[in-house]
Formats: sequence, C-alpha cells, structure tokens
Amino acid sequence: MMKVPFYDAKPYDHLFFVPAGESLGVEFQFHAFRLNADTAASAAGAKAVCVFVNDTIDRACLEALAKQGVRLVALRCAGFNQVDLRAAAELGIRIARVPAYSPHAVAEHAVALLLTLNRKTHRAYNRVREHNFSLNGLVGFDLHGRTAGIVGTGKIGKITAQIFKGFGMEVLVYDLYPDEAWASATGATYLGLDDLLSRAHVVSLHTPLTRETHYLINERTLAMMKEGAYLINTSRGGLIDTAALIESLKQGKLGGVALDVYEIEEGVFFEDLSHEVLQDDDLARLLSFPNVLVTSHQGFLTEEALSEIARVTTGNLASFGKGDELQAGTEVRP
Ligand code: NAI
Repeated sequence: MMKVPFYDAKPYDHLFFVPAGESLGVEFQFHAFRLNADTAASAAGAKAVCVFVNDTIDRACLEALAKQGVRLVALRCAGFNQVDLRAAAELGIRIARVPAYSPHAVAEHAVALLLTLNRKTHRAYNRVREHNFSLNGLVGFDLHGRTAGIVGTGKIGKITAQIFKGFGMEVLVYDLYPDEAWASATGATYLGLDDLLSRAHVVSLHTPLTRETHYLINERTLAMMKEGAYLINTSRGGLIDTAALIESLKQGKLGGVALDVYEIEEGVFFEDLSHEVLQDDDLARLLSFPNVLVTSHQGFLTEEALSEIARVTTGNLASFGKGDELQAGTEVRP
C-alpha cells in the first residue's frame, strides 16, 4: 500500500478519494491543513504528496519536500500557478495535474453565475423569504441578441461559448492560439482583446494564470469595457486587479461582477469563517456591492468532476509508486 499525504482535505475529498485509493492500492493520509514550507515536514517518508489550489508549492516548500524524499507532487486540479515549476525541476520533483476532468462543470458554473447576476435570483431568493415580493431593482436583460466575450478558448472557454450560442448570443472570443476551425463550426469570432472588451455585454475569463495573464483585467482594460457590462471570473483570481475592479464598481461602470475565484483565496475560500471577523478588506468590500456575486471556488464541484479528479490523480500516484510512471499529458514541466 502506497501512503500519500493529502493536504487541505475536505469531507467531499474523502468521499471520492477513499474508494479510488482502495481500488488502486493507495492509502491517503488526509490532513485538513494546507501544504507549505512550514507544514512540509508532515510528508516525511512519503514518495508523493497530493495537493490542491491553495497549497503553496514554492521553492521553500519544494526544498523541504525534497529533504523528506518526496519526488512527486500530484495536483488534484487543472491549474498549476501555485507551483514553482523551475524549483521543482531543479530539485528533481515531478509535478502532475488533472488537465481535464469536467470542463462542463466549470463552464456551467460560469453560466449559473451569469444567470444569477443578470436576473438577480440571489436577491429575489432572500426577498421572498422575508415575504418581500417587490420586484424593484431586479430588472435584468435578455441574453438573447447580446454579445458575449470569452477570453481563453481552451476546454472550458469553448464549452462556455457554445452554451452562450445556445442562448442566441453573438460570441466573440480571444486566445493567444486561435482555433479557427472550432470558431467557424461554432459561429464564434476571434478578435483582439481590446476589441472584445469594448464590444461585449458579458465577459467571461477562461485563461490560466500566467505571468502574461496576471492582471489582464486592470484599470486600463476595465475602462474599455461597456457601461453596464458583466464580468465573470471562474478561472483564477490573479487575472483581475481587485483594487481596480473595486474602483470601477464604485464608479458604477460595470453592471455586475461574478467571481468564483479571488486574488487571495488562501485561508478564506473553502473555510467556514462565519464566526470570525473577515480580515481581507478588499473581499469585504466586494461582498458589500449589491451587484457582486462571489462563490468560493466551486466550479469543479460536481460528481463527475470529483470522481474524474480522484480517478486520474490516484491512477498517477499508483503508477508513480510502482515504476515512476505518469499518465500521458498529466505531467507539468517549466
Ligand atoms: P486550457 O488549457 O484548456 O485552456 C486555456 C486557454 O487559455 C488556451 O486556449 C490557451 O491558449 C489560452 N491562453 C493561455 N495564455 C493566454 C494568454 N496570455 N492570452 C490569451 N489566451 C491565453 O484550460 P481549461 O481547462 O479551459 O481551464 C482554464 C482555467 O480554468 C484553468 O487554467 C484554471 O485556472 C481554471 N479552472 C477553474 C476551476 C474552478 O473550479 N473554478 C476548475 C478548473 C479550472
């Protein structure tokens, strides 16, 4: 039985990873705390560890892991911006991820956020519970006939675009590597980012977080967006300059913002802080806007996505345990 420390573990992780481990000879040691340089000693004796989006796999953490003999960090997510890939390569630690589990899960969540934001379902739900049946302030717009802008046409962006087409929206798309064949089959149009931002009523972000995409949405690009436009981010918080976003919201420029991800999620997202004082003033400010909707990084939270994440991650751990093998397409290199 291969023993694998598993960090930032939640009840739904146990539900999907325990059976996957049992069938493949992997015994997970579930830790509720996150992995970082200070907690890496808990990996002593393990050949591999399993982490999630808010573990901090920086150089210091990787050095500590290497000292413990760890040779694989298995990410149970698609994004890998939390890992110092160069340090990992230098230390001989391999990095694996789950490149595609259910892009539908995330795309559908992005659309759920848009529909909620536009028709104010979250506010209506609270109102009627208080027997307030007034409709004042709940006016939305028809998505049919409006223009959507998808930034990043990878797996998730493409599905989101296709759903928007289903609403009868015009779909503009932007990507460093345009897939023209897909665009013409779908009826989407590639444009430069600036043109997309200035024309779209709804902008949805679907690029990974990299040095180039960090603060892609900033004071300059926010200023290009249409008056009353909606901005949806289910990708990574670092794509948006939060301070600039708050400023733009205060000026009443954007119609609304829906975020499933946030710049500083660590220690907040995935936690129940309902009895504590929220220390992040920017997040507190965002939560105070009537036209901002925040969910706590739950795009991946469907049965299909969780079981696929558990299957691929555990498969990788088992094959690495036996012969240092990783499944094709799952390894991340600098
Ligand atoms: P993908 O790798 O299939 O697609 C990413 C696309 O972004 C590619 O087409 C790529 O060419 C494009 N891109 C990269 N750099 C760019 C740049 N500088 N400018 C323009 N386009 C650029 O990734 P996938 O599966 O669609 O996922 C997208 C992101 O969604 C992930 O990186 C992850 O951060 C996020 N995600 C969020 C989840 C959640 O629970 N909210 C769950 C899964 C993923």
